Parts: sequence; C-alpha cells; structure tokens
Amino acid sequence: MTATTTPAPPAAPAATGPGPLTAPGTTATPPTPSTTVTAGETTTAGVPVRARLRFHRLAVTAVEPVAADGSAVAVTFGVPAALRGTFAFAPGQHVTVRAVVSGVETRRSYSLCSTPAELERHGTIRIGIRVVPGGRFSSHAAALAAGDALDVLPPVGAFGTAFDPARRRRYGAVVAGSGVTPVLSLAAAALATEPHSTFTVVYGNRTADSMMFAGELADLKDRHPGRLHLVHSFSREEPRLGLAGGRLDAGRLADVLTRLVAPEGVREWFLCGPEGMVRDARRVLSEVAGEGAAVHTELFHTGGPSPATPPATPAVPPPAGQGREVRVLLDGRATTLRVRGDRPILDDALPYRPELPYSCRNGVCATCRARVVDGEVRMSGNWALTEEELAAGYVLTCRSVPATDRVTVDFDVV
Ligand code: FES
Repeated sequence: MTATTTPAPPAAPAATGPGPLTAPGTTATPPTPSTTVTAGETTTAGVPVRARLRFHRLAVTAVEPVAADGSAVAVTFGVPAALRGTFAFAPGQHVTVRAVVSGVETRRSYSLCSTPAELERHGTIRIGIRVVPGGRFSSHAAALAAGDALDVLPPVGAFGTAFDPARRRRYGAVVAGSGVTPVLSLAAAALATEPHSTFTVVYGNRTADSMMFAGELADLKDRHPGRLHLVHSFSREEPRLGLAGGRLDAGRLADVLTRLVAPEGVREWFLCGPEGMVRDARRVLSEVAGEGAAVHTELFHTGGPSPATPPATPAVPPPAGQGREVRVLLDGRATTLRVRGDRPILDDALPYRPELPYSCRNGVCATCRARVVDGEVRMSGNWALTEEELAAGYVLTCRSVPATDRVTVDFDVV
C-alpha cells in the first residue's frame, strides 16, 4: 500500500494517481533498451548514512479477528527493547512483512493500527490484514498464532500529520474497507494527544459484518465522548436510520459530507482506500473542503496488475559500448552496474544487492525510495512520494529507469 499528502483544497492528484509521472529533475527521454553487468563495490566513506532499512525477526504475540464475518485479522508483534527505536513510528505509517509461502518469498505492506504510545508502554506494534480469498500472504497471516514469527521492516510512509496538545482542530477521514487501518491509529493518537480536537471518519464497507475494527472504533468513541464521529456507508445493505446506503462514490460522498459532516470546518483530511474511492473523495473535497485544508492520501493498491516475481539473476548485458551505468549506494557501499536501461533500476540491481528494500514493486509503498544524486531517471507511476520528496530528488526505484548515461541513486540518505 500507500501514498501521500498534498496541500489543499485538492485539485487533480499530483503526486498520486495513475499514469506516467516525471519527477522534478527527471526527463521524459525514452530509455535505451538493454542490460546489466556488475562492476565493483566501494565504500562511500564519510557520507551520512541512515540506518539501513532491513528486516528484523519479530515474534507474533496475538492474532485476533477484527471483522464479524472473519474476513480480517490483526496481528500483534512484540518488539524487543533493543529494537524499540528502530520500530518507532508515526501514526499512519506501515510496515513490510516477509515470509516464504509455498516456497515463494512473499512481501506485503500493512498499515499499523496501533499507536506509538502502545509501542512505548507495551512494546508492541499491530497491523490490520484483510484476508483475501486465495490470497497467498493474507491466508498465511490469518493462520499465524502467538509464538510464530515474521520478518518485518521498520515503519515507513508519509501518511499522517504531527499532533500537538495545544491544538484545537477538526480532523476528517474518508476510508473504505481495510483503509480504516491507518486511520484507526491516526484517530486514536489525535484524540489522545489533542484533548480539544475532534475526528470524523466516513467509513465505507460492503456490509456491517465485513467492517474492520468496529469494536476498536466503539471503544475509542467511548474513551473520548463527543469527539469521535463515525459515519457508515454500506454498499450491500438496506439504508438504516443514521446509516447511508450504497457505494461510497462521488455523489454519495458529497451528500454524506455536506449533510452529516460540515466539511468546511475540517482542517485536515485523511483518505485511504482503493484508487477510485480516493480519487472521488479528492474531487468532492476540492469542492466542499474549507480553504487551506490539507488532504493526505494513501492507496492500498493501484488496481493495476501486480509485478512478477523480482529477478534473481542479472539481465543480459548491453552490447559493448551501449547501455547505461547505474551506481547504487546502500549501507555505505556503492555497486556499479552496466544496464540496458529498459528495466526499473530496482530490478536490475536486486541480483547484485538482494538486500535492497522493496515491497510492492508497483509504486505504492515507498519502501524502495532512494535519492537521485547524479544523472536523471524517468519515473512512471508514483502513488507514494510527496511533492516535497519529489522536489528533493527522491524517486521510487521500482518505477524508475535511467534517463541519462550515468545515474547514481542513494538509498542511504535520510
Ligand atoms: S513503491 Fe513499493 S517497492 Fe517501490
């Protein structure tokens, strides 16, 4: 999953949305077709290096159903004291989990539904997982039990905001299905941190039984009387008193927001769900949100096909005198490749640097984020990086091909 924040009122998505996107400092030059060959590795001594985003084995301490129809679970992990700093997170962030399922290494990104306070007090983090029928990883996760363990990458993501106890603010969220997961963390943190703020969640589901975290939301409402406002929309149930019926499309959302939410007073919006819902919500908010409101967006998937298994062997090298040079900086080491230039930099580099961080390989999760420090790339499809990150030269290496003869991407910069 994932994506990001834009100033508001939101017009057409800039950093989010389908189709090619050229990052600042990039060009639309068509890539030269061709291959890979390694060269040497050197140490980038003296360069500030961030802690490498690497997997840690975390124990599962609980697996609990979080939907009445059994279609979703929450998995809680224990974080050893020595790793609490590594796994410190902001509400709205997500983690990548990894497991070998049926002999295939499988990675998925899931949002954290717990709060930083729970990590501090209890040493746990918790993720919400919709169990997809036939889904390789989600079925595996649903069968986990306390005592099992999974490989987990530290939290990443820019979906969120900084809460301030002195602030009095109205927050709003529009979510569908498992899109409620990061918003549960955000709402819990906002209400606990800002005693004078309120949070409204417009929450679309097929049925009441398929709704995730109904119990947690009810508890949150009880803990903060009058400050959490829930508006439900069920697409496959008859409208009931207080419950809007039908799919949460643009028309219904406009109706719900204007009749039940008073959107002009909401200062920050959080949108999370499938691309169509997020796009509809942005369009509606561009008309009904108050001036200056911020809109943060997060996608779980783009609706496009999932990429094939990442390559484990190098691609065929380019003919002599052709191709492009790609230099990858990770964990203080530089690896230089000669590539044809028609594949994403991540795919070309993985056979040589298998520890490179990634998850979706589809422009959504931002796990593969790196900064272009030399040359230019052409990036197509970014659903994760903010305008600020793009302006600073960050790219998604899973969606970027070299656009100049030499390119250096740095995974170590903060
Ligand atoms: S955006 Fe998910 S791996 Fe690149």
